Parts: sequence; structure tokens; C-alpha cells
Amino acid sequence: MKNKILVTGGAGYIGTHTCIALHEAGYEIVVYDNLSNSSREAINRISALIGQPIEFIEGDIRDAEMLRQVFLSHHFFGVIHFAGLKAVGESVAKPLLYYNNNVSGTITLLEVMAEYDVKNFVFSSSATVYGDPEILPIDESSSRSCTNPYGQSKLAVEHILEDLAVSDTRWNLIPLRYFNPVGAHPSGQIGEDPNDIPNNLMPYISQVAVGKLPKLSIFGNDYPTIDGTGVRDFIHVTDLAQGHVAALNYLERQVAPVGFLPINLGTGKGTSVLELVSAFSDVSGQTIPYQFTDRRAGDIASCYSSADKAKVLLGWQAKLSITDMCQDTWHWQSMNPNGYNVT
Ligand code: NAD
Ligand code: UFG
Repeated sequence: MKNKILVTGGAGYIGTHTCIALHEAGYEIVVYDNLSNSSREAINRISALIGQPIEFIEGDIRDAEMLRQVFLSHHFFGVIHFAGLKAVGESVAKPLLYYNNNVSGTITLLEVMAEYDVKNFVFSSSATVYGDPEILPIDESSSRSCTNPYGQSKLAVEHILEDLAVSDTRWNLIPLRYFNPVGAHPSGQIGEDPNDIPNNLMPYISQVAVGKLPKLSIFGNDYPTIDGTGVRDFIHVTDLAQGHVAALNYLERQVAPVGFLPINLGTGKGTSVLELVSAFSDVSGQTIPYQFTDRRAGDIASCYSSADKAKVLLGWQAKLSITDMCQDTWHWQSMNPNGYNVT
């Protein structure tokens, strides 16, 4: 058995997939989640998939006392920190909630880690920290700027991690900057389960395909891209999960601390909204009705990663195609039209 990892937000979309990948790689995991955007059913499904009960603690990252109890009763090699709120529109309406949860919560977690001398930290950052990129593909040295409270909260945590690395050189702090995670576990048992009408493209397309929503609105067809629609770097969530395993393996190999080390997790390839709609339609055999509407405020034309740093440092690269992403999303959506709400 390898090292023990605390996975905050492990009941969520990316967390569940990463828990499975960590278990398969031999890590012992403890999930800590307040279930504010997830359900116990997700935990049950992870347990069923890995064939053993998973250690789950219902708790909030802002609750220092509860975190201390967790660190007292376990000896962790490190923390993968997924816990956070992620809806851009909601963050504009409720900035204090987002800063409190995402920034204060992370500070509390880091303080407790420091108390227990756990210094390996992998953080869910986002390509959103690059704002509207000047140069494509985007590498990790690109300038950073954000326009909404969600993005600001990710950038604020990155700045805190940079300062922490300077203050105490024993920290290993890896913000993984995700591009656009999509897809689901190939079993069809776990996947993305938005609470309400989805904000993001892939879950919206899949809910149209399954008949839950009448049609997709495509936000803008006059961008300077291949077909006028937005271009993004979609990455299969199981590839993304493997990226976290690779980051931990990397930390285990180090003889000296790495400090602050941001790494992109993307495929390096851009796909347009219309290309994704067409691929999903082919895979599912469903027509996806759509209409073009105005651009969505705050959206950018194109965003895709340079994936070189992850390949060189972590020995990781995404393997799965857009077809795989659509197939697995469709499998999950058609097997679970109501997500984890099984009643
Ligand atoms: P998710 O909402 O499915 O998972 C987040 C989990 O954190 C949920 O289970 C939620 O209940 C939990 N959580 C939230 N606040 C908490 C708190 N205060 N204490 C304990 N648990 C808490 O989101 P996801 O898509 O799995 O994203 C995981 C992380 O990756 C988030 O930090 C998100 O901002 C980041 N990220 C996501 C995307 C994306 O497109 N999905 C892109 C870039 C970055
Ligand atoms: N889009 C539509 N119709 C929809 C939803 C999206 O046309 O109903 C378009 C958008 O305009 C954009 C593309 O599809 O061109 C992708 O949009 P998403 O909302 O799926 O993803 P974003 O790139 O806007 O943002 C996502 C996450 C952010 C994260 C960012 C970078 O929502 O939190 O990726 O990782 F910061």
C-alpha cells in the first residue's frame, strides 16, 4: 500500500474520478466533502467500483477543528484539494460566498496542514487564470488575469501558494490548471451531475441529446475561429484524474522540495463548439437541435493549452479523443438521466 492522501471535494465530478485513479494506483484515500454540490450516492458508487468501502468524512474545509481531528487520526503524505464552488455566474451574484469558500477555506486547510507538517499540496486551479490569452497555445509562463470572482478566487489561491513557497521552502505546491474537463467514467456509474440547468457546454449537449432540454443555444458564431464558434481544449476527466496521480508520483520521486509549480492539464488541441456538437451527435445517434444566440458575457474566442510541461515533468499526457469524451458522457447520461438522484 502506498501513501495516504486526503481528497477534499472528493465526492464531486473530478474528485470521484480521481479517487478511483488513486485507488487503482495503490494510494489509500480519505475523502472530505461537505456535500454542498455532491451526494452520498457518488461515494457509494466509488465504493462499488473499487470493490471496497471508501473512507468518507462529511465536513467543511472552513472548519479547522474538524480538519484537525482528521489530521490527528491519519498520517497523510499529501492533500489533493478539489473542494470549492465553481459556477462563474453564481460567483458574480455571491462574491463573498466564493471568496469565503474558495479562498478562506483553502487558507484554513493550509494552516491545518502546516500544523501537522503535511507539505504536499495539489490544487485544482483553472485555465481561467489566464484570462483572454495573448498567445496560443497557453503555457504556464503566460500572464494571468481574471474578470469574475470565481476566477479571482483561483488566482488569489495561486498567489497565496506562491507566497507560502517563498516563506517556507519545505512546501510542495502544485496548482494544476485544468482546461475543459468533460466525459465520465467508462462504467457509466459516475459522471458530472449538475444541480440545475447546466452552464457548461458538454452537460448541456448531453441533456439535449437525452431529451431533458429542448435545444442548445450556441453563444456566438462570429468569433475569429475555424467556424465562428468558441474553441476550447476539452479533456477527458479520466485523463485529468491520471494527471493527479502523475503529480503525486512526481512529488514522491523528489529529493528536494519543488516550491510553487503550476502545471497545465489539457490536451494541447482546440475543438470548436460546432465540432463538439457534431461529434456528440455522431456518437449518440441523436439530433442535437441548436440555435445561435449572442455571445455570452466574459467568454473568449479560443483557449487551448501547451501540454509540454506536464509531459516533461510528470510523464503525463492526455490519451483520450473527443469521440471517447462524447461516448462516455453519453453512456453516463443515458444510464443516469437524473444523475445521482436515483429516487
Ligand atoms: P464539483 O462541484 O463537482 O466538486 C467540488 C466538490 O467540493 C463538491 O463535492 C462539493 O460538495 C465540495 N465542496 C465545495 N465546497 C466545500 C467546502 N467548503 N468544504 C468541503 N467540501 C466542499 O466540481 P468539480 O468540477 O469536480 O471541480 C473540482 C475543482 O476543480 C473545483 O475546485 C473547481 O473549481 C476546479 N475546476 C473545475 C473545472 C470544471 O470545469 N469542472 C475547471 C477548472 C477547475
Ligand atoms: N457554450 C455554448 N452554449 C452553452 C454553453 C457553452 O455555446 O450552453 C460555449 C461557450 O460560449 C464556450 C464553450 O461553449 O465557447 C465552452 O463553454 P463552457 O461553459 O463549457 O466552458 P468555459 O470554457 O466557458 O469555462 C470552463 C469552466 C470554467 C473554467 C474554464 C477553464 O466553466 O470554470 O472552463 O477551465 F474556468
